[in-house]
Amino acid sequence: MSRALLICGATGKQGGAVIANLLKEKTNFEFLAVTRNANSPSAQALLAKSPEKIKLVQGDLDNPTALFQAAQALTPNVPIHGVFSVQAAIGSNAELSQGKALIDAAVAAKVTHFVYSSVDRHGADSPNTPTDIPHFRNKHLIEQHLIAKTAGTATTWTILRPVAFMENLTDNFFGRVFATSWKMAVKDKPLQLVAVSDIGFFGAQAFLKPEEYAGRGVSLAGDELTIEQAVKVMKEKTGCEMGWANRLFCSVLMWSMKDFGLMFKWFYDVGYGADIQALRKVNPGMKDFGTWLETESDFRKGKGGK
Ligand SMILES: NC(=O)c1ccc[n+]([C@@H]2O[C@H](COP(=O)([O-])OP(=O)(O)OC[C@H]3O[C@@H](n4cnc5c(N)ncnc54)[C@H](OP(=O)(O)O)[C@@H]3O)[C@@H](O)[C@H]2O)c1
Repeated sequence: MSRALLICGATGKQGGAVIANLLKEKTNFEFLAVTRNANSPSAQALLAKSPEKIKLVQGDLDNPTALFQAAQALTPNVPIHGVFSVQAAIGSNAELSQGKALIDAAVAAKVTHFVYSSVDRHGADSPNTPTDIPHFRNKHLIEQHLIAKTAGTATTWTILRPVAFMENLTDNFFGRVFATSWKMAVKDKPLQLVAVSDIGFFGAQAFLKPEEYAGRGVSLAGDELTIEQAVKVMKEKTGCEMGWANRLFCSVLMWSMKDFGLMFKWFYDVGYGADIQALRKVNPGMKDFGTWLETESDFRKGKGGK
Protein backbone atom coordinates (compact mmCIF):
# COMPACT_ATOMS: atom_id res chain seq x y z
CA MET A 1 0.00 0.00 0.00
CA SER A 2 1.34 3.42 -0.83
CA ARG A 3 1.83 6.17 1.73
CA ALA A 4 1.28 9.87 1.11
CA LEU A 5 3.61 12.70 2.10
CA LEU A 6 2.26 16.23 2.26
CA ILE A 7 5.18 18.37 1.08
CA CYS A 8 4.98 22.10 1.78
CA GLY A 9 7.19 24.41 -0.24
CA ALA A 10 7.16 21.70 -2.93
CA THR A 11 7.62 24.23 -5.74
CA GLY A 12 10.42 25.90 -3.78
CA LYS A 13 13.98 24.92 -2.96
CA GLN A 14 13.69 22.69 0.10
CA GLY A 15 10.38 20.93 -0.52
CA GLY A 16 11.44 20.37 -4.14
CA ALA A 17 14.76 18.90 -2.98
CA VAL A 18 13.03 16.48 -0.57
CA ILE A 19 10.82 15.21 -3.40
CA ALA A 20 13.78 14.97 -5.80
CA ASN A 21 15.75 12.89 -3.27
CA LEU A 22 12.82 10.57 -2.55
CA LEU A 23 12.10 10.09 -6.26
CA LYS A 24 15.63 8.66 -6.58
CA GLU A 25 14.74 5.93 -4.06
CA LYS A 26 12.49 2.94 -4.55
CA THR A 27 9.65 3.84 -2.18
CA ASN A 28 5.89 3.51 -1.97
CA PHE A 29 5.53 7.24 -1.23
CA GLU A 30 3.25 9.44 -3.23
CA PHE A 31 3.67 13.17 -2.95
CA LEU A 32 0.95 15.64 -2.17
CA ALA A 33 2.76 18.75 -3.32
CA VAL A 34 1.40 21.95 -1.83
CA THR A 35 1.20 25.07 -3.97
CA ARG A 36 -0.96 28.17 -3.96
CA ASN A 37 -1.34 27.88 -7.73
CA ALA A 38 -1.42 24.46 -9.39
CA ASN A 39 -1.26 26.12 -12.82
CA SER A 40 1.94 28.07 -12.18
CA PRO A 41 4.99 27.16 -14.29
CA SER A 42 6.85 25.94 -11.18
CA ALA A 43 3.95 23.68 -10.12
CA GLN A 44 3.62 22.25 -13.62
CA ALA A 45 7.40 21.70 -13.87
CA LEU A 46 7.30 19.80 -10.58
CA LEU A 47 4.38 17.65 -11.74
CA ALA A 48 6.24 16.78 -14.94
CA LYS A 49 9.03 15.17 -12.83
CA SER A 50 6.70 12.29 -11.93
CA PRO A 51 3.06 12.59 -12.99
CA GLU A 52 2.37 9.14 -11.50
CA LYS A 53 3.79 9.90 -8.03
CA ILE A 54 3.10 13.62 -7.60
CA LYS A 55 -0.29 15.20 -7.04
CA LEU A 56 -0.59 18.98 -6.79
CA VAL A 57 -2.60 20.20 -3.81
CA GLN A 58 -3.78 23.74 -4.30
CA GLY A 59 -4.07 25.46 -0.95
CA ASP A 60 -2.59 27.97 1.44
CA LEU A 61 -0.62 27.53 4.65
CA ASP A 62 -2.92 30.18 6.10
CA ASN A 63 -5.58 27.45 6.24
CA PRO A 64 -3.93 24.09 6.93
CA THR A 65 -7.20 22.37 7.84
CA ALA A 66 -8.55 23.07 4.34
CA LEU A 67 -5.14 22.05 2.97
CA PHE A 68 -5.35 18.66 4.68
CA GLN A 69 -8.92 18.18 3.43
CA ALA A 70 -7.91 19.02 -0.15
CA ALA A 71 -4.90 16.70 0.13
CA GLN A 72 -6.88 13.82 1.60
CA ALA A 73 -9.56 14.22 -1.11
CA LEU A 74 -6.85 13.56 -3.72
CA THR A 75 -5.87 10.26 -2.07
CA PRO A 76 -9.04 9.09 -0.27
CA ASN A 77 -7.69 5.57 0.32
CA VAL A 78 -4.14 6.51 1.25
CA PRO A 79 -3.53 7.97 4.72
CA ILE A 80 -1.29 11.03 4.98
CA HIS A 81 1.77 9.42 6.50
CA GLY A 82 4.11 12.36 6.74
CA VAL A 83 4.40 16.13 6.46
CA PHE A 84 7.37 18.23 5.36
CA SER A 85 6.93 21.71 6.78
CA VAL A 86 8.71 24.83 5.62
CA GLN A 87 7.44 28.38 5.65
CA ALA A 88 8.15 31.18 3.22
CA ALA A 89 11.38 33.15 3.33
CA ILE A 90 12.33 36.14 5.48
CA GLY A 91 9.71 38.84 5.65
CA SER A 92 6.66 36.61 6.04
CA ASN A 93 4.58 37.91 8.96
CA ALA A 94 2.56 34.70 8.92
CA GLU A 95 5.49 32.34 9.55
CA LEU A 96 4.74 31.64 13.20
CA SER A 97 0.97 31.20 12.85
CA GLN A 98 1.34 29.08 9.69
CA GLY A 99 4.03 26.88 11.22
CA LYS A 100 2.05 26.23 14.40
CA ALA A 101 -1.29 25.69 12.66
CA LEU A 102 0.24 23.12 10.30
CA ILE A 103 1.51 21.15 13.31
CA ASP A 104 -1.96 21.26 14.91
CA ALA A 105 -3.59 20.03 11.69
CA ALA A 106 -1.02 17.23 11.30
CA VAL A 107 -1.49 16.01 14.88
CA ALA A 108 -5.29 16.13 14.43
CA ALA A 109 -4.91 14.08 11.23
CA LYS A 110 -2.73 11.55 13.15
CA VAL A 111 0.19 11.95 10.77
CA THR A 112 2.95 9.46 11.58
CA HIS A 113 6.05 11.60 11.01
CA PHE A 114 6.46 15.38 10.79
CA VAL A 115 9.65 16.91 9.42
CA TYR A 116 10.11 20.61 10.11
CA SER A 117 12.80 22.60 8.35
CA SER A 118 13.95 25.33 10.72
CA VAL A 119 17.35 27.06 10.87
CA ASP A 120 20.59 26.36 12.72
CA ARG A 121 21.01 28.63 15.70
CA HIS A 122 24.35 27.28 16.96
CA GLY A 123 23.17 24.77 19.50
CA ALA A 124 19.48 25.50 19.40
CA ASP A 125 19.08 24.99 23.13
CA SER A 126 22.19 26.87 24.16
CA PRO A 127 22.34 30.41 25.53
CA ASN A 128 23.49 31.39 22.05
CA THR A 129 19.95 30.85 20.77
CA PRO A 130 19.25 34.34 19.46
CA THR A 131 15.93 35.85 20.35
CA ASP A 132 16.28 39.24 18.69
CA ILE A 133 16.20 37.92 15.11
CA PRO A 134 12.49 37.61 14.27
CA HIS A 135 12.64 34.66 11.87
CA PHE A 136 15.07 32.75 14.14
CA ARG A 137 12.72 33.39 17.08
CA ASN A 138 9.72 32.23 15.02
CA LYS A 139 11.49 29.01 14.11
CA HIS A 140 12.49 28.45 17.74
CA LEU A 141 8.84 28.89 18.81
CA ILE A 142 7.57 26.58 16.03
CA GLU A 143 10.09 23.92 17.12
CA GLN A 144 8.86 24.21 20.70
CA HIS A 145 5.25 23.97 19.54
CA LEU A 146 6.07 20.85 17.52
CA ILE A 147 7.73 19.12 20.47
CA ALA A 148 4.94 20.07 22.91
CA LYS A 149 2.00 19.30 20.60
CA THR A 150 3.25 15.88 19.50
CA ALA A 151 4.17 14.70 23.01
CA GLY A 152 2.06 11.68 23.90
CA THR A 153 0.54 11.48 20.40
CA ALA A 154 1.04 9.11 17.47
CA THR A 155 3.09 11.75 15.63
CA THR A 156 6.89 11.72 15.77
CA TRP A 157 9.10 14.56 14.50
CA THR A 158 12.46 15.51 13.06
CA ILE A 159 13.79 19.07 12.97
CA LEU A 160 16.27 19.98 10.24
CA ARG A 161 18.33 23.08 10.93
CA PRO A 162 20.04 24.23 7.74
CA VAL A 163 22.62 27.03 7.71
CA ALA A 164 22.78 29.64 4.90
CA PHE A 165 21.99 28.16 1.49
CA MET A 166 24.68 28.07 -1.20
CA GLU A 167 21.73 28.85 -3.50
CA ASN A 168 21.71 32.39 -2.06
CA LEU A 169 24.63 32.99 -4.43
CA THR A 170 22.59 33.35 -7.59
CA ASP A 171 24.04 34.88 -10.74
CA ASN A 172 21.88 37.99 -10.44
CA PHE A 173 21.28 41.03 -8.27
CA PHE A 174 20.13 38.97 -5.25
CA GLY A 175 23.28 36.85 -5.34
CA ARG A 176 25.44 39.96 -5.55
CA VAL A 177 23.62 41.50 -2.57
CA PHE A 178 24.18 38.29 -0.56
CA ALA A 179 27.90 38.18 -1.45
CA THR A 180 28.40 41.87 -0.65
CA SER A 181 26.51 41.65 2.67
CA TRP A 182 28.60 38.57 3.54
CA LYS A 183 31.81 40.51 2.80
CA MET A 184 30.69 43.63 4.68
CA ALA A 185 29.18 41.98 7.76
CA VAL A 186 31.08 38.72 8.28
CA LYS A 187 34.45 40.18 7.24
CA ASP A 188 37.28 37.65 7.70
CA LYS A 189 35.24 35.17 9.75
CA PRO A 190 34.02 31.93 8.15
CA LEU A 191 30.37 31.31 7.28
CA GLN A 192 28.77 27.86 7.09
CA LEU A 193 26.85 27.06 3.91
CA VAL A 194 24.72 24.14 2.72
CA ALA A 195 23.52 23.01 -0.70
CA VAL A 196 19.74 22.71 -0.85
CA SER A 197 20.10 19.25 -2.44
CA ASP A 198 21.75 18.11 0.82
CA ILE A 199 18.83 19.45 2.86
CA GLY A 200 16.71 17.31 0.53
CA PHE A 201 18.92 14.31 1.28
CA PHE A 202 18.33 14.61 5.02
CA GLY A 203 14.62 15.42 4.59
CA ALA A 204 14.29 12.22 2.58
CA GLN A 205 16.26 10.21 5.15
CA ALA A 206 13.97 11.42 7.92
CA PHE A 207 10.98 9.88 6.09
CA LEU A 208 12.88 6.77 5.00
CA LYS A 209 14.35 6.05 8.45
CA PRO A 210 12.07 7.65 11.04
CA GLU A 211 13.36 5.22 13.67
CA GLU A 212 16.79 6.83 13.23
CA TYR A 213 15.64 10.43 12.89
CA ALA A 214 12.59 10.68 15.18
CA GLY A 215 13.04 13.08 18.09
CA ARG A 216 16.24 14.58 16.65
CA GLY A 217 17.30 18.04 15.55
CA VAL A 218 19.97 17.91 12.84
CA SER A 219 21.95 21.00 11.87
CA LEU A 220 23.00 20.93 8.22
CA ALA A 221 26.11 22.44 6.61
CA GLY A 222 28.40 21.23 3.84
CA ASP A 223 31.16 23.81 4.01
CA GLU A 224 32.58 26.63 6.10
CA LEU A 225 34.61 29.37 4.45
CA THR A 226 35.40 33.06 4.47
CA ILE A 227 34.22 35.31 1.66
CA GLU A 228 37.85 35.60 0.52
CA GLN A 229 38.07 31.81 0.25
CA ALA A 230 34.69 31.71 -1.52
CA VAL A 231 35.91 34.22 -4.12
CA LYS A 232 39.00 32.05 -4.74
CA VAL A 233 37.05 28.79 -5.00
CA MET A 234 34.58 30.38 -7.42
CA LYS A 235 37.39 31.56 -9.69
CA GLU A 236 39.15 28.16 -9.55
CA LYS A 237 36.08 26.02 -10.12
CA THR A 238 34.07 28.11 -12.59
CA GLY A 239 36.35 30.80 -13.98
CA CYS A 240 33.80 33.35 -12.73
CA GLU A 241 34.49 36.39 -10.59
CA MET A 242 32.26 36.90 -7.57
CA GLY A 243 29.73 39.60 -8.42
CA TRP A 244 29.29 42.54 -6.05
CA ALA A 245 26.45 44.96 -5.37
CA ASN A 246 26.61 48.57 -4.26
CA ARG A 247 27.89 48.65 -0.65
CA LEU A 248 25.75 51.63 0.28
CA PHE A 249 22.67 49.80 -0.97
CA CYS A 250 23.60 46.73 1.15
CA SER A 251 24.18 48.94 4.23
CA VAL A 252 20.77 50.50 3.82
CA LEU A 253 19.20 47.07 3.29
CA MET A 254 20.82 45.61 6.43
CA TRP A 255 19.72 48.66 8.40
CA SER A 256 16.15 48.86 7.05
CA MET A 257 15.36 45.11 6.83
CA LYS A 258 15.97 44.33 10.50
CA ASP A 259 15.69 40.54 10.10
CA PHE A 260 18.30 40.54 7.32
CA GLY A 261 20.67 42.93 9.09
CA LEU A 262 20.46 41.21 12.48
CA MET A 263 21.08 37.84 10.85
CA PHE A 264 24.28 39.06 9.18
CA LYS A 265 25.41 40.65 12.44
CA TRP A 266 24.80 37.27 14.12
CA PHE A 267 26.87 35.53 11.44
CA TYR A 268 29.77 37.68 12.67
CA ASP A 269 29.02 37.68 16.43
CA VAL A 270 28.08 34.00 16.86
CA GLY A 271 27.79 32.08 13.58
CA TYR A 272 26.33 28.71 12.70
CA GLY A 273 27.52 25.56 14.47
CA ALA A 274 26.76 22.49 12.34
CA ASP A 275 29.13 19.50 12.63
CA ILE A 276 30.21 19.09 8.99
CA GLN A 277 32.52 16.10 9.64
CA ALA A 278 29.74 14.14 11.35
CA LEU A 279 27.29 14.97 8.55
CA ARG A 280 29.75 13.81 5.90
CA LYS A 281 29.95 10.42 7.63
CA VAL A 282 26.18 10.05 7.14
CA ASN A 283 26.16 11.61 3.68
CA PRO A 284 29.59 11.28 2.03
CA GLY A 285 28.20 13.16 -0.97
CA MET A 286 27.58 16.29 1.16
CA LYS A 287 28.64 19.14 -1.13
CA ASP A 288 31.36 21.60 -0.32
CA PHE A 289 31.13 25.01 -1.98
CA GLY A 290 33.39 24.03 -4.88
CA THR A 291 31.37 20.90 -5.71
CA TRP A 292 28.13 22.84 -5.53
CA LEU A 293 29.54 25.54 -7.83
CA GLU A 294 30.59 22.93 -10.39
CA THR A 295 27.45 20.82 -10.30
CA GLU A 296 24.39 22.80 -9.24
CA SER A 297 25.06 26.55 -9.26
CA ASP A 298 24.24 29.26 -11.77
CA PHE A 299 28.00 29.43 -12.39
CA ARG A 300 28.55 25.84 -13.56
CA LYS A 301 29.85 25.14 -17.07
CA GLY A 302 27.16 25.62 -19.68
CA LYS A 303 25.39 28.14 -17.43
CA GLY A 304 27.35 31.21 -16.25
CA GLY A 305 30.69 29.35 -15.95
CA LYS A 306 33.43 29.14 -18.56
N1 LIG B 1 18.00 31.05 2.31
C1 LIG B 1 18.68 30.61 3.35
O1 LIG B 1 19.91 30.77 3.42
C2 LIG B 1 17.95 29.90 4.47
C3 LIG B 1 18.70 29.26 5.47
C4 LIG B 1 18.02 28.57 6.49
C5 LIG B 1 16.64 28.56 6.50
N2 LIG B 1 15.94 29.21 5.51
C6 LIG B 1 14.48 29.20 5.56
O2 LIG B 1 13.97 28.54 4.41
C7 LIG B 1 12.60 28.92 4.26
C8 LIG B 1 12.28 29.09 2.81
O3 LIG B 1 12.46 27.84 2.17
P1 LIG B 1 12.83 27.73 0.63
O4 LIG B 1 13.99 28.65 0.35
O5 LIG B 1 12.94 26.30 0.31
O6 LIG B 1 11.53 28.38 -0.02
P2 LIG B 1 11.40 29.03 -1.48
O7 LIG B 1 12.30 28.35 -2.45
O8 LIG B 1 11.49 30.51 -1.32
O9 LIG B 1 9.91 28.66 -1.85
C9 LIG B 1 8.82 29.08 -1.05
C10 LIG B 1 7.79 27.98 -1.11
O10 LIG B 1 6.75 28.29 -0.17
C11 LIG B 1 5.50 28.17 -0.82
N3 LIG B 1 4.59 29.13 -0.16
C12 LIG B 1 4.84 30.42 0.14
N4 LIG B 1 3.78 30.96 0.79
C13 LIG B 1 2.85 29.97 0.90
C14 LIG B 1 1.56 29.89 1.47
N5 LIG B 1 0.98 30.97 2.07
N6 LIG B 1 0.89 28.73 1.40
C15 LIG B 1 1.45 27.63 0.79
N7 LIG B 1 2.69 27.64 0.26
C16 LIG B 1 3.38 28.79 0.30
C17 LIG B 1 5.75 28.47 -2.28
O11 LIG B 1 4.79 27.77 -3.06
P3 LIG B 1 3.91 28.43 -4.23
O12 LIG B 1 4.55 29.71 -4.64
O13 LIG B 1 3.90 27.39 -5.32
O14 LIG B 1 2.57 28.62 -3.61
C18 LIG B 1 7.15 27.84 -2.46
O15 LIG B 1 7.04 26.47 -2.75
C19 LIG B 1 12.41 30.18 5.10
O16 LIG B 1 11.64 29.87 6.24
C20 LIG B 1 13.82 30.56 5.48
O17 LIG B 1 13.87 31.25 6.72
C21 LIG B 1 16.56 29.86 4.49
